[in-house]
Amino acid sequence: MLKSLLKKIMKPIAIQFKPQLEMVAQAECALSRKWVANSHKRLKWIQWALPPQPEHFDHQIDLFHQFMDHRSSYWTERGVFGSLALKGGKVLELACGDGFNARNFYSLRSMAVVACDFDPSALKIAKAKNSAPNVTYLLADIRTDMPQGTFENIVWDAAIEHFTPAEIETLLGEMKMRLTPDGILSGYTLVDNQTGEKQLTHHEYEFRDKEDLRRFFLPHFKNVTVFETVFPDRHNLYFWASDGPVPFAKDWQFALS
Ligand SMILES: C[S@@+](CC[C@H](N)C(=O)[O-])C[C@H]1O[C@@H](n2cnc3c(N)ncnc32)[C@H](O)[C@@H]1O
Repeated sequence: MLKSLLKKIMKPIAIQFKPQLEMVAQAECALSRKWVANSHKRLKWIQWALPPQPEHFDHQIDLFHQFMDHRSSYWTERGVFGSLALKGGKVLELACGDGFNARNFYSLRSMAVVACDFDPSALKIAKAKNSAPNVTYLLADIRTDMPQGTFENIVWDAAIEHFTPAEIETLLGEMKMRLTPDGILSGYTLVDNQTGEKQLTHHEYEFRDKEDLRRFFLPHFKNVTVFETVFPDRHNLYFWASDGPVPFAKDWQFALS
């Protein structure tokens, strides 16, 4: 009551001083932008320059530091392309890392998200920075303990490369059993750098190109789309796989039929 009364009185005064108020707010934003960018740059240095390196990335470092400093938007792509596959029901996110995508891309447009990872330190960050009422974080090694249930969507972002080809084959079979008949598996990985050297020590298998990735899904799914985006410092691969329509197919539920 008092708050809305104050607002009513203050607003006409504030209108008179809009240019000055905006100048002060712009200065405050500039200062806080520098501060938040620098603190996240320091966090990245501590996490990545001092061993041991983590197996996941804290995407608030992308949000507050790298996006602005490097102009690279690819860190948002997996969330955006993954969201195109969402069907609004239950989502299983495998190897969710810091949970940034579970909270900021997948949770609002889904009934529930079960997000799992085998690294307790990743889940600690996920729960602290990326909790949401319909997101459940579970500690699970997906090779032995993939969460049970039936899901309209399974998301496997930036993680398929952490498994051997034999493990990928077994895991895809397990995922297929958990998907609804027209459920969609979506995900992201990166192309190898053609030097024979892995881009991260945690990687088991890096993909040569789109075909090399697609061949893993073909035995399991009728419809498979693999596509790429190329940035100066990274060559990205995305996938959608389903027995039903995948995004941008003629019979995709969100397309004009
Ligand atoms: C590069 S991170 C990707 C995290 C997140 N999906 C993203 O897009 O930012 C790879 C994640 O896979 C997880 N991971 C690797 N092997 C796993 C396994 N066997 N079971 C569950 N999680 C695993 C790691 O702990 C790490 O968080």
